[in-house]
Amino acid sequence: MFETLQTPPPDKILALSAAFRADPRADKLDLGVGVYKDEAGATVILRAVKEAERRLLAAQSTKTYVAPTGDEAFNAAMLGLVFGDAAPKDRLRAAQAPGGGGALRLLCELIHRAERGATVWLSDPTWPNHQGILRQVGLQFRTYPYFDPATRDVDYDAMRSALSEAGPGDVVLLHGCCHNPTGANLTPEHWRDIAALAVDRGFTPFVDIAYQGFGDGLEEDAQGVRILAASVPEMLVAASCSKNFAVYRERVGCAMALAASPEAADLAKANMGLLARVNWSMPPDHGAAAVAMILNDPELRTDWAAELESMRLRMLTLRTGLADALRARTNSDGYDFLARHRGMFSLLGATPEQVETLREAHGVYMIGDSRINIAGLNAAGIDRLTQALIAVGF
Ligand code: LMR
Repeated sequence: MFETLQTPPPDKILALSAAFRADPRADKLDLGVGVYKDEAGATVILRAVKEAERRLLAAQSTKTYVAPTGDEAFNAAMLGLVFGDAAPKDRLRAAQAPGGGGALRLLCELIHRAERGATVWLSDPTWPNHQGILRQVGLQFRTYPYFDPATRDVDYDAMRSALSEAGPGDVVLLHGCCHNPTGANLTPEHWRDIAALAVDRGFTPFVDIAYQGFGDGLEEDAQGVRILAASVPEMLVAASCSKNFAVYRERVGCAMALAASPEAADLAKANMGLLARVNWSMPPDHGAAAVAMILNDPELRTDWAAELESMRLRMLTLRTGLADALRARTNSDGYDFLARHRGMFSLLGATPEQVETLREAHGVYMIGDSRINIAGLNAAGIDRLTQALIAVGF
């Protein structure tokens, strides 16, 4: 039966990681996949995670099943982390999922179950897997303009004008913070305007929040979700703990729904349970158990937030360092967008040929659309990247 299959197109992020691993050059620079690295280039286990794992190992007495929707202590803690007290608890429901990707998949299937003909609006550009998941689930999608390549900021007028065409039954997928791949983000005023537009036009916002705490701070990065939640009757959120708890391979995510009534919220939760059951039956426990322990233990939570904050501040220092280095070398302020952007990524605006030369001739790996992972840099990396960018005429 397998002869009928076609070779799938490579995932551009994972293909780049494979090419980087295969490159024998010692001074190669990995600015590809979105994984945080410290100054020494290591992706360490956070102190609070190590301690929570130690306690889990000592205290855990069973490995029996939890439930298709996971651990309710985790779900409640995640709702608190993301929504704060912006929405009434009786209209909110959550289901633990295997990573942010699992949460996205679950919620896309929930949309398909509720509204088979729904159109999901995606930002152009967006994380490539958004399209992949929608295609696989069988949902239609359209795109809305998001990024202005000239200013490297959000082109809000163009975005708003496209979303004015979205209506009831449509879903608008938004990046909660730290937009992937551009690094350009919506302001609180933009979020308020989108909330008003959603109410006016009747579309359902769907927020993918995978980098809470990497942009302007844990609370600040959740502002978009909270502004929407205070106004709209219903919305969806896919949250990931991969980056802000650095538990990438443990697959920790949470699918959340705000419904128009407690009864509709119960329906959403029951259907999330069914969809989890037919997809993965039960989510993996370990990473989510560690996250729940951290969020519910004041001492561990304080330590986690402090370590996360130091990661955030390091990325900001790298951003200003790179913008300063390019300004000094070129006498131009055309790179200041790097310091304005937030999160792990910035879309540089280099041509595909420049990206290829950077990889082939200089061993500098970035995604083909010229997305760089700022957290892949360190002081020496800033020098290398600056020199390589200038050498390719960027
Ligand atoms: C990325 O965009 O690099 C990350 O979200 C990792 C991934 O799975 O693509």
